[in-house]
Amino acid sequence: MDISLDVGEYARFIGRFSLGRDSGMGSLHFVRLKVPAGILSADRLRGVAELSREFGRGYAEITDRQDIQLHWIEADDALKLFSRMDELGFTTDMCGQAFSGAGHGDVRNVVVCPLSGKVGRGVHNHAIELTRFFSGNREFLDMPKKFKMAFTACGTDCVRVEINDLSFVGVNHEGEEGYALMVGGGAGKTEPGPRIAEPMGVFVPEDKVFDVALSLVRLHRDRGCRESKSKARFKYLVDTWGLSRIRTHLESEVGPLEEIAEMPALSSNVHEGEGIQDDGRHYLTLPLPGGVTSAEQLETIAALSEQYGSGELRLTPSQNITFVDVDEPDALRGALWARGLWKDVTPSYYTSIGCASDFCGKTREVHAKELMRRVVGLLEREGVHTRVFVSGCQNGCCAHQLAPIGFMGRGSTYDLFVGGRLGMGRMGRRVATGLTPAQCVDAVRELVEQYREGGYDGFEDMLEHIARTVEVEKGD
Ligand code: HEM
Ligand code: SF4
Repeated sequence: MDISLDVGEYARFIGRFSLGRDSGMGSLHFVRLKVPAGILSADRLRGVAELSREFGRGYAEITDRQDIQLHWIEADDALKLFSRMDELGFTTDMCGQAFSGAGHGDVRNVVVCPLSGKVGRGVHNHAIELTRFFSGNREFLDMPKKFKMAFTACGTDCVRVEINDLSFVGVNHEGEEGYALMVGGGAGKTEPGPRIAEPMGVFVPEDKVFDVALSLVRLHRDRGCRESKSKARFKYLVDTWGLSRIRTHLESEVGPLEEIAEMPALSSNVHEGEGIQDDGRHYLTLPLPGGVTSAEQLETIAALSEQYGSGELRLTPSQNITFVDVDEPDALRGALWARGLWKDVTPSYYTSIGCASDFCGKTREVHAKELMRRVVGLLEREGVHTRVFVSGCQNGCCAHQLAPIGFMGRGSTYDLFVGGRLGMGRMGRRVATGLTPAQCVDAVRELVEQYREGGYDGFEDMLEHIARTVEVEKGD
């Protein structure tokens, strides 16, 4: 399949991906470096730093699908940048936004537990195999829309299984290791609206993972709805076909799959921070609020990972970077501190995320990452901890519905959601609309005050209670 752009499509591409605040300049773009399973060597990270310095004003962002994005790319530099990326072994994603109608969807980075193989079972090999197979594979570059997969086997929902098209959740079924499948999740507004992935009730042994993924991606490609963009995600097909028809189709291709009655319970912990690996060494996560970093910082991180660890780094779905295989975590923390990279922050900082609305142009002033920092700053000062997810618009790139506190931008204001919970498949409820950034912070302050008045086991319990009350009031 050849991809060509006519003049109209090209104009749309430029309009969409030029810098939001400089809308109209028409020559500045972002590029996503796909990082299979979020695992990078120090050398490749240095390569990213070079690209960032040369093409992207020395700036870089860790994304919530364990990729790295560079910004302010000049259109004229694109070919040079792509060839340098190729030398370093990086691919990128197709840009479905650039084309009209349902089409040009590809498989996005497969999200993986950032401690895969270091704590508990390794699942990253599947993600790497699948990402390599699908990236740039011409047979899968014109699906109705993008397709997202996730793997976790650590007992936590560190990859947001609920909002992927297809998730593999590690289970042990009658003594055999494998996965429970979840299908049809998606955080965006497209039909049938934000949707929590459903357990399919089948067991996938390790040796069938690739075939199962291939079969369902092919199903999306061949039978997904191409009527319009708003019906083109896999969640729409799952919703219209129903689970049992999807399962029948899957088994007709991969053979019968054993039943598993229950999904394993997943905790909402995302195990960032510091901890001990199965081999006795340590991991240490460097908090990078909003994933924002620089070429210089990336070079420092690369050097320290070689000095204190094995030179391997993990990008996390919470937009941070984790050092692994560390023998002396205190010494590493000290070295990070000495270089101005370490801050003693609370878990709210580690676990909160904000989207790239600065570059998308969908919010004005106080962009998603900045609002997240302000709200988390308030929580830190108040000594109350929870995670805050901020999306700049209803596309939900930072899954605002899945956090205890979520914000969704609408131009210059935000809507507030409360009561979401990862691992429980619980979507938060909208409790306020049209808040200015200052009002957003005030609203959270009021929630903290309400919590202080007592009566709840924890802050998140109170937020869930508020969400349930809203449901009852609205009658749904
Ligand atoms: C129909 C439109 C879009 C929808 C429904 C959508 C939705 C999403 C979702 C659900 C995620 C992943 C969240 C997760 O895995 O937890 C995501 C990731 C992301 N989105 Fe969007 N998005 C859309 C368009 C855009 C646009 C226009 C931009 C920027 C200009 C953008 C930037 C990003 C970025 C930077 C990420 C992290 C990505 C990665 O590494 O793959 N998105 N988006
Ligand atoms: S949520 Fe909206 S504003 Fe934020 S990156 Fe996605 S499309 Fe852009």
